[in-house]
Amino acid sequence: MDIKALRQEFIKLYGDGDDIREYLSPGRVNLIGEHIDYNGGCVFPCALSFGTFAVARKREDRIVKFATTNFDLKVEVNLEEALVYVEEHDWTNYPKGVIKELMGKGHEVGGYEVLISGNIPNGAGLSSSASLEVLTGVIVNDLYNLGEDMVELVKLSQKAENLFVGVNCGIMDQFAVGMGKEDHAILLNCDTLQYAYAPLKLQGAKLIIGNTNKRRGLADSKYNERRSECEAALADLQIECDINALCDLNMDEFEAKKHLITSNIARNRAEHAVAENARVLEAVDKLKDGDIARFGELMNASHDSLKDLYEVTGVELDTMVEEARKVAGTIGSRMTGAGFGGCTISIVKEDAVDTFIEEVGKNYEARTGLKPAFYVAEVGQGARVL
Ligand code: GLA
Repeated sequence: MDIKALRQEFIKLYGDGDDIREYLSPGRVNLIGEHIDYNGGCVFPCALSFGTFAVARKREDRIVKFATTNFDLKVEVNLEEALVYVEEHDWTNYPKGVIKELMGKGHEVGGYEVLISGNIPNGAGLSSSASLEVLTGVIVNDLYNLGEDMVELVKLSQKAENLFVGVNCGIMDQFAVGMGKEDHAILLNCDTLQYAYAPLKLQGAKLIIGNTNKRRGLADSKYNERRSECEAALADLQIECDINALCDLNMDEFEAKKHLITSNIARNRAEHAVAENARVLEAVDKLKDGDIARFGELMNASHDSLKDLYEVTGVELDTMVEEARKVAGTIGSRMTGAGFGGCTISIVKEDAVDTFIEEVGKNYEARTGLKPAFYVAEVGQGARVL
């Protein structure tokens, strides 16, 4: 639903009046640098042109009314009462968590009514939850003039997901959603939060997102499990190495010290993290030099490592990537996001895009029984007041 139609729906639901405001928060796709944001590594995501729209208006009381065009569920919360996670409150737990974080910083937050409409497929690994969180930060910050900057909204959105929703995610998704820039990817150092924008000069090639339509079932518990495996590897390495995160090591240092990691599984996870970080830095350099072919090879290597060492791909993502790589004109292809289902990202020569979508679609469906969806990604701007 576009913003004009959403405004009309808002008026139908809550009534007309002054000072109705409009917002947009994008989804994101990560080009390379997977499962290393929480290991102090560098990542290279970008914001998408589609995302989550909202129309909102301040209220005089302290009631927040949530509604969406995507689901029937409507929820009202009273900010006079403690905000707690309620299973039946479903998607509204994300905005509730963000409001709680803002209030926790001492901000005076009052009531508002909001109608939200998202066009990011849910559970597809394109950050529909981060989009909703940052959107909420932007709305409340704007309606109540809180004066927070975007990086702060990004940080407290991540905190809301960690503490309120209980998913121990890193900062990448919220950062990409909040700080995205049209036609640029963001090189983000997740340890220092230093970042730089890199123009996405793909020399005519296109970014194709392939949705496996395999929902990310046990993703959250598996995600938290991977994090603890990395923490175990780090603790073993710290016996001799003066480091705060796995990605503080380069590959040579890791090779020299990897024997300290007692579990084979944890050693594999750590090897992925260290090597992936090096791949990101090389990939960004190659993009700058216009060497898209090498960028694609690094994407392929990233996927293979996520499959063999990190074990977060699964048959659907592997099948889609395998089929993608068979198409002449595919420069690189990998899973993107947390894994266990969700989406792949491929760089494909412009004249091969139609063949890619047709061939990968047909062969993927024949092999998995699932009907995939493809989007030619446009790289958009971060979350904002419209
Ligand atoms: C999810 C998390 C991110 C990041 C990716 C994997 O999207 O929310 O913080 O860890 O998985 O790279």
